[in-house]
Amino acid sequence: MPKFLTTPIYYVNDVPHIGHAYCTLATDTLARYWRQQLGNDQVFFLTGTDENSQKTVEAAQKAGLPIEQYLDQMAAQWQTCWDQIGISYDDFIRTTEERHQKTVQSFLQKLLETGHVYKGTYKGLYCTGCESFKKPSDLDEENNCPDHRKPCQELQEENYFFRLSAFEKELIELYEREPHRLEPTSRRNEIMQFLREGLDDISISRETAEIGIPMPNDPKQKIYVWIDALINYYTAVQTPERQDLWQEAFHIVGKDITRFHSVIWPAMHLAIGSPIPTGVYAHGFFTIDGHKMSKSLGNVISPLALKQKYGNDALRLGLLSSFEFGNDGDFSLGHFDRFYQAKLAGGLGNLFNRVVILIHKFLDGQIPAPSENIDQNELLKPFQEALENKKIKTAIDYFFSVVDQANQRLNETEPWKLAKTDLPTAAKVFTELYGYLTFLSKMSEILLPESAEKMKRMLGDGQNLGQAEILFPSVN
Ligand code: MSP
Repeated sequence: MPKFLTTPIYYVNDVPHIGHAYCTLATDTLARYWRQQLGNDQVFFLTGTDENSQKTVEAAQKAGLPIEQYLDQMAAQWQTCWDQIGISYDDFIRTTEERHQKTVQSFLQKLLETGHVYKGTYKGLYCTGCESFKKPSDLDEENNCPDHRKPCQELQEENYFFRLSAFEKELIELYEREPHRLEPTSRRNEIMQFLREGLDDISISRETAEIGIPMPNDPKQKIYVWIDALINYYTAVQTPERQDLWQEAFHIVGKDITRFHSVIWPAMHLAIGSPIPTGVYAHGFFTIDGHKMSKSLGNVISPLALKQKYGNDALRLGLLSSFEFGNDGDFSLGHFDRFYQAKLAGGLGNLFNRVVILIHKFLDGQIPAPSENIDQNELLKPFQEALENKKIKTAIDYFFSVVDQANQRLNETEPWKLAKTDLPTAAKVFTELYGYLTFLSKMSEILLPESAEKMKRMLGDGQNLGQAEILFPSVN
């Protein structure tokens, strides 16, 4: 079975920060894992930008740019950022692309034909920051949106509504019958409770929106940005080669947008009679040194700044090793720096460097015969099991436990001393250590893709080792 993995598509009213990079890097790690398991052509990894939002109109005005120019500029900035940090996406979708507009309109046309859409009046609150309709009970004590700390807009509009309430029972039964469709369990429990409290119908168009895809039956109304955005996943596979992938769609999202993905999105498919996506995994949020990342606190960190100082591989693992994927957690630059020094430079980098230099010195750089001492398949199992369950931190911790194991063997056996008195025994030790390096290099294709390239060069052509390289240079 092929895999179709997606990240959320990001709003372009701002530049990427490490919260966005976290989700994208996690999905990238899973995509790399599945490519290694199933082959490159069996994995399709989608990301992109969510552009038909009132927020982008406001941001373009602020930047003094025409909207199209602003969108092109910002979308390019997001895509370049993902390129620069080594995201291996297969397609980058923008919701202002023609292919998307077409798919959205035909999806909406189908929805209209089901009879599950009706016209009504929306009277209530709307938060442009979330691009979401709010109930008074969603607000904080000051009547502000708790996420954006701003008052919501009072709206009274003629809108089209989607009869979401008609799918309440079906969704409850779905998650009861097939719980793996929404993970982790904590998020599923939240959604089950939300479903059991009863679903309201939702407004799916906006009368006053300045940007957006027109309703096919009523061009004066723009399709609500979230309905438009969710359809991106469907647009990307509307080609003859990709069509079958739809059945495999798996969405990795942040917990803030679980409801959209696990309630509204499957209901839209149930309504039109199309298969629902395979699953949703909603990860947690992180704070920076205990504080929410925000412009006003001045603690927003750019992934490119971390890349510049520590490199892409450190950026990846520094973020993904801070706390288990799926949980909430904290990220600190202190943790990041310690992780870099101890685990990457001190542990992994040193191991490769020492072993390669020693084999050059005592075996003339000849690659020892394949190891009988370590069973690579056994070593692989806990790593595979962790990634199959999306326990990315567990996989990383296991990887470094193997690094420690190898370093311990090196220190215990002291082959640099042994080689002077008993070269055949030292050669056996090198064989074992070489086996560890091969294993770590293979796992690094998933976790540390740039270092994996260097490792491959160091491990040589099957007969001779390459030159030792510094994997993680000292930083200051
Ligand atoms: N455009 C919508 C998604 C539409 S998907 C059909 C959107 N975009 S967003 O740019 O605001 O945020 C996208 C995602 O960024 C969030 O869901 C979340 O996964 C991630 N994060 C933003 N800040 C984060 C943290 N501080 N921590 C972890 N993830 C964070 O919502």
